[in-house]
Amino acid sequence: MKAYLEKNKERFLDELMQLLRIPSISADSNYKKDMVNCAEAVKESLLNAGADRVEIFETKGHPIVYGEKMVDPKLPTVLVYGHYDVQPADPLELWETKPFEPAIRDGKIFARGACDDKGQFFMHVKALELMNKNDALKTNIKYCIEGEEEIGSPNLATFVTEHKKLLAADVILISDTAMISLENPSIASGMRGLSYIEVEVTGPNRDLHSGVYGGAVANPATVLAKMIASCHDENNHITIPGFYDDVLEATPAERAMLAKAPLDEKEYKEDLGINALYGEKGYTTKERTGIRPTLEVNGIWGGYTGEGSKTVLPSKATAKISARLVPNQSSKKITSLLLNHFQKIAPAGVTVKATEHHGGEPYLTPLDSIAYQAASKAIEKTFGKEPIPVREGGSIPICSLFEKELGVKIVFMGFGLDSDNLHSPNEKYDIANYYKGIETIPYFHAYFAELSK
Ligand code: BES
Ligand code: MN
Ligand code: MN
Repeated sequence: MKAYLEKNKERFLDELMQLLRIPSISADSNYKKDMVNCAEAVKESLLNAGADRVEIFETKGHPIVYGEKMVDPKLPTVLVYGHYDVQPADPLELWETKPFEPAIRDGKIFARGACDDKGQFFMHVKALELMNKNDALKTNIKYCIEGEEEIGSPNLATFVTEHKKLLAADVILISDTAMISLENPSIASGMRGLSYIEVEVTGPNRDLHSGVYGGAVANPATVLAKMIASCHDENNHITIPGFYDDVLEATPAERAMLAKAPLDEKEYKEDLGINALYGEKGYTTKERTGIRPTLEVNGIWGGYTGEGSKTVLPSKATAKISARLVPNQSSKKITSLLLNHFQKIAPAGVTVKATEHHGGEPYLTPLDSIAYQAASKAIEKTFGKEPIPVREGGSIPICSLFEKELGVKIVFMGFGLDSDNLHSPNEKYDIANYYKGIETIPYFHAYFAELSK
C-alpha cells in the first residue's frame, strides 16, 4: 500500500485541491448551488475510490452523501462521518491567497476547509482507494458525509433516525479533530457540547441624542455589557445559578493523564499575540479548554459603529453568546438556563429578548474500547509513538445522537493541528498530515477487524 500511496501522492493532492475549490458554505444561502455541486463531487470521489453504492439524500437543508463498500457481511463495519460544508471565509482581506483557490506554501495547503473538514474526510476516501486497489479491505466501510455540520447539523438527526439500518455499524470513525503534533500524536477522547443563544436588549423606542437623554434613560449597550460581565466572577468562574450542577468532574487520574499533553505556554501566547493567559482559577490551560465548561461572547453590537463618532444613545444592543459544555451537562437544559437567566437579570428600563440558536451535546469516548485501541495502535504504527488521549475543546453536534440512535461508540482520529486556523483566515492543512492520515487509516481498519475477532 505504501508504494501505491507514494506513486499517487500528487494526484491525491490534486483531487483534494479540486474539492477545496468548491465554496461549500452552508451558512450562506447564496452558495446553495455550490453545496449541491460539492455533494456531487463527494459522490464521484467515493465511486472512483471503489465504493459500490453511493447515494445523495436530500434534506430540508443541504444534501447528505451516503456511500458504502460492503466486503463481507461477516466482517465488522466502520461508519465514517465527516462534513463537506465549510465556514464562511470572511474577513476576506486577511487571507494571503483566496480561500477557494487553494495554494501551497511551505508544505501546507491553504484554503477554507483544508483541515475542517474536507482535507480530513477526504483522507478516508483516498484510504478506500488505497485498500481497494491493494486488496486490503479488512472491514466493510460506510460513509456519511453531511453538509450542515458548521450550522449545527439541523437535519442530520432526522436522517439518522430514519436510516438506522442503512447506517448500522460496529463503530463510528471521525477525522474532524486535531492532534498535538506529528511528533506528539494524540487522540481526542472527548468533545465539548454547545448551547448558543442571542440576547437583544431594547431601551427607548428610537436612537436618542446622548446629551439630551443620556443620564436619564437606561443605555441598552451599557446594560448588556453589565449583564454579560456579571456572568463571571473574579476567578473567571461562571456565576449563573445551576450552571455547574450536572458537570461530571474529571477524576485526579484523568487530570494527571491530561497533564501529560505537552503545552508550551510561551509559544502558545506568542502564536496568539497575547501577553498573558486568562481563565478559570484552579485549572491549567488544557483543562480550561478540555474538561471545563465556558461561556463566551461570539459577537456584540449596537449603536453607532461606523466611521468617526456619533453621539447617540442606542435603542438596542445585541449579543451572540455561547457556552461550551462538558460531560453530563445537557445542551437543552443549559440553553433554557441561559435564556431564563438573561431575562431574570434584566434591570427595569429595558426589555430583553433571548432566543435560542443551535446546540449539541458533549461526548466522551471510552479508552478501553476496541475502537480506541485500534486507533491508538494504528497511530503508533505510522507515527512511531503511542498517542496520548486529550479532551478536545470544540464540538461535533451529532456525536451523542449517533451513539444513541446507532448504539455504537465513536472514535476520533483527527490529523489536524490547533494552529490550522479553523474558522479563521488562512486555514491550512499540512500536506504531511494529509498523507500520514491516508497511510494510518488502513491500519485502523485492519486492527479493528483483528481486535473484533
Ligand atoms: N471540526 C470542528 C470541531 C473541532 C474544532 C474539533 C477544533 C476539534 C478541534 C467542527 O467543524 C466545528 O467547528 N464545530 C463547531 C460546532 C458547530 C455547531 C458550529 C464548533 O465547535 O464550534
Ligand atoms: Mn469540522
Ligand atoms: Mn468547523
